[in-house]
Amino acid sequence: MTLKRREVSMSDELPLLFWRDSPSDRKYQLSGNLIDESSHREWFRKRITIKDANPFWAYEQNDMTIGFFRAEINKVSPKEFQVSILVSPNYRGKGLGYEILADAIESMRHLFPKHALLATIHRENIPSLTMFLRAGFLLQSTVINDFLQFRLTL
Ligand SMILES: CC(C)(COP(=O)(O)OP(=O)(O)OC[C@H]1O[C@@H](n2cnc3c(N)ncnc32)[C@H](O)[C@@H]1OP(=O)(O)O)[C@@H](O)C(=O)NCCC(=O)NCCS
Repeated sequence: MTLKRREVSMSDELPLLFWRDSPSDRKYQLSGNLIDESSHREWFRKRITIKDANPFWAYEQNDMTIGFFRAEINKVSPKEFQVSILVSPNYRGKGLGYEILADAIESMRHLFPKHALLATIHRENIPSLTMFLRAGFLLQSTVINDFLQFRLTL
């Protein structure tokens, strides 16, 4: 399976909102609130302007967008990025999440050598835990309640 990586564009605004807002996914989000379209639009339009320093990539398979990778630089500790991955609900469980993560790690290593990636994951989010551990992330600590923090040094 060949995945194509590209920069996020305005056409990704709505898929991102719909995929993120499914009730099963919200349970695993640190901020699990339903996001309304106008707040999402405002966030997305600001977010897209800082994507050079804070990578935000879409992944395509056969010209269909199937997932996203996002990295936010830690303002207090600028050698660290908080990362997250989202796969289209229709394409889950096929190995794509892991493929995206593996590609994103390699690209981040190239762009930001010696930086670290942090992922905050709900303890019941088994696909996500499996994926990040398989990619070499190590458990660091419990952040709050049911969320665990993992880290990978590039
Ligand atoms: C987490 C997420 C990105 C995983 O993507 P995916 O394409 O479904 O994952 P994969 O198919 O690559 O599977 C990753 C691993 O989890 C396992 N897995 C997948 N679905 C599973 C399920 N329902 N139950 C148990 N294990 C599962 C796979 O077997 C695989 O393990 P392996 O490498 O040992 O075979 C996707 O579920 C998603 O977008 N979730 C919503 C957002 C989210 O929670 N993001 C993570 C926090 S940043």
